[in-house]
Amino acid sequence: MKVIEIEGNRELSGQIRISGAKNATVALIPAAILTDEEATICNVPEITDTDALCDILKELNVNVNRSTESLVINPKDMKNIEIKEEFSKKLRASYYFMGALLGKYKKAVMYFPGGCSIGARPIDLHLKGFEALGAKVTNEKNKYTVEAEELHGANIYLDIASVGATINIMLAAVRAKGKTVIDNAAKEPEIVNVATFLNNMGAKITGAGTSTIKIEGVDYLHKCFHEVIPDRIEAGTYLIIAALCGKDLRIDNVIPEHIDSLTSKLEEMGIKLDIGIDYVRVLEVPEKLKATDIKTAVYPGFATDLQQPFTVLLTQAEGKSKVTETIWENRFMHIPYLNALGADIAVENQTAKIEGPTELKGCEVVATDLRAGAAMVAAGLKASGKTTITNSEHILRGYESIIEKLTNVGAKITLKEI
Ligand code: EPZ
Repeated sequence: MKVIEIEGNRELSGQIRISGAKNATVALIPAAILTDEEATICNVPEITDTDALCDILKELNVNVNRSTESLVINPKDMKNIEIKEEFSKKLRASYYFMGALLGKYKKAVMYFPGGCSIGARPIDLHLKGFEALGAKVTNEKNKYTVEAEELHGANIYLDIASVGATINIMLAAVRAKGKTVIDNAAKEPEIVNVATFLNNMGAKITGAGTSTIKIEGVDYLHKCFHEVIPDRIEAGTYLIIAALCGKDLRIDNVIPEHIDSLTSKLEEMGIKLDIGIDYVRVLEVPEKLKATDIKTAVYPGFATDLQQPFTVLLTQAEGKSKVTETIWENRFMHIPYLNALGADIAVENQTAKIEGPTELKGCEVVATDLRAGAAMVAAGLKASGKTTITNSEHILRGYESIIEKLTNVGAKITLKEI
């Protein structure tokens, strides 16, 4: 097991550079198999989710060449074989191979995907989308076979604006015959990044980033070069850490517009920010932070993936704050550990009620999932004394070089294996 130890209550200053977005990368890697030529993706974060997807590519006999920050994927000798359960269950994003393999070979066989236990996480909307495109889905225990004689364009309305279903349907539809329209599509920046990648390969996708995406099927996709956008969730996490313990801490390589909902909330709490073209710096944190409420929502609303780290900041605000989670049913697993560190938080249904400010004191806590782990790191950096975070492998799934990045700005943080 991986364990992170933090000696907290230190001022952090300097710069933190944000890496490529995890949730774009994990879709771009499976998307790359849609061509028979070479795809070069740069600004790829070194996180364990990237490694898990590269392992799947290798299983499918795809040539993968990894160098610092870039990934060259060549599927010329690829074999469309069943993706074994041990690979599918390593991460949620393994499900993008369903759409990509279906799009390319008209057949995908794989198991139900894994990922953080933050809710039931069904894939019914993905499967309905594939069916609308002409595929037949069979399910035996955890194993899914999705197959079509021919894929044809369709009008698809998503009951929920799901990030995964939007991307997966795009992957299946780019090489289908005719036109596909996805209505109530998700609008997250990662979707735009994936659509741009596919268009760079010759796909005809318009409307990505709006709630209606149109895809005109093409016969062939060619080689391309692409860059992953900066990770808005990593940026938001470090910005929250800067608000908690920063002294002139600057977060670099950010697209500020992607974290508008967070920066507005920080300003509402009384924090002064310097927002540049590609950076955000915390200029001043008032002695008394104002309490506030957040409600998670699809983009451009307040990101569910930042809800857990943001809760840590609310423990330092004066008075009562509320966090309402609307996307995932089980995303308050960090709360008992925040309370163990000294917070005063009560959870009722999908709302956490926070009474602040409270002093945080280090103790042993658990990273129950990726962003809960990020919340524990933020809390450990603020807390006095030593915080030990067990199950920290969750954190390494999504935060590149977190130990180095925080050490460079003055944190006392180490990672060990026990
Ligand atoms: C993506 O998950 C992200 N993961 C999540 O980030 C993020 O929390 C989420 O989008 C919302 O922003 C990746 O990109 C790999 P959804 P995804 O489909 O695509 C329901 C992180 O910490 N739903 O938009 O799986 C679902 O249960 C991770 O980086 C269905 O009911 O999320 C949820 O309530 C965690 N049926 C809601 O929709 C479906 O078929 C939104 O899920 C699909 C989804």
